[in-house]
Amino acid sequence: MDIWLQVAQAGDRSEIATLIQRSTNAWYQRHGLGAIFPAEAESCGLFVDVYQQLDAGYHWVARDEQGVICGSCFFHPRETHLGLGIMNVHPDYFGKGIASRLLAKAEELAGDLPVRLLSSALNLDSYSLYHRAGFTPYAIYQDMAIPVPAQGFTFPRLTQGRVRRAQLADRPAILQLERELLGIERQCDIDYFLNDTSGLWRVAVWEQDGRIGGYLASVAHPASRMLGPGCCYREEIALELLSWMLDHHHRGTTPVVLVPAQRSALSQVLLRWGDGFVNYILHR
Ligand SMILES: CC(C)(COP(=O)(O)OP(=O)(O)OC[C@H]1O[C@@H](n2cnc3c(N)ncnc32)[C@H](O)[C@@H]1OP(=O)(O)O)[C@@H](O)C(=O)NCCC(=O)NCCS
Repeated sequence: MDIWLQVAQAGDRSEIATLIQRSTNAWYQRHGLGAIFPAEAESCGLFVDVYQQLDAGYHWVARDEQGVICGSCFFHPRETHLGLGIMNVHPDYFGKGIASRLLAKAEELAGDLPVRLLSSALNLDSYSLYHRAGFTPYAIYQDMAIPVPAQGFTFPRLTQGRVRRAQLADRPAILQLERELLGIERQCDIDYFLNDTSGLWRVAVWEQDGRIGGYLASVAHPASRMLGPGCCYREEIALELLSWMLDHHHRGTTPVVLVPAQRSALSQVLLRWGDGFVNYILHR
């Protein structure tokens, strides 16, 4: 089968949204987990829109001889690395080397920079794809779903600092935190979060005596309800940022948080929050 790669065009949006939904749901359903994108396919257009604004010209698709889009992957060129996100192949085209071709394109675009991606440890198809291409895991996260009561979320203070909504003036401090704690730079992502006017995104910072010690971004959309990315100096700060965000951005929903697996104390508290809220819902 003849497959060729090209940059996605504006008119491809709905075909790509359908591909992302079908391809990702296919994996979840094959593993008895139910559809991960139960809303209509259109909701997956969110990814196309966001990355079109962030990285125009870096969304690549694979087409077959008839021009049908059978693969899609978003690339994110950043100061320190090339990010790779949301790799999808249409289920009718699995196992034909399409993902490998898209991955080779990422490596070509990255040049001398490393390629960075997040992949589910449950998904052995993609683990195998990336492993075969020479990728190695360097950090493990556990994802936790936390139901947030509609009337809000309260959590005792652990630090002398305070959490507040981030402002544009916080940009240099957030960039410095990411450089120092994560070793990466991605100015355009931080600018995107801070300049959002849609209300989908929110950013909070933790500060004490005028010094920023952590930040957390969050998205609330039918296709993606997540807390992150973010980073901070201590686990207490992480808990204050997370509880602020749950209360201010996710009331009455169940967002997902990715917790670094080596942060055991943090995981323990979040597991209690999850359990606590499950009990709360059952009592209603
Ligand atoms: C994972 C996925 C992108 C692979 O796409 P693909 O075009 O079928 O992959 P390729 O044909 O290029 O295969 C490349 C390598 O991936 C691995 N792989 C792909 N599918 C696999 C499967 N079902 N089982 C085991 N390994 C698999 C193999 O190592 C394969 O190399 P090989 O053919 O030499 O054995 C595709 O199955 C998919 O879209 N799945 C649903 C969405 C998803 O999980 N996306 C990844 C999220 S990060």
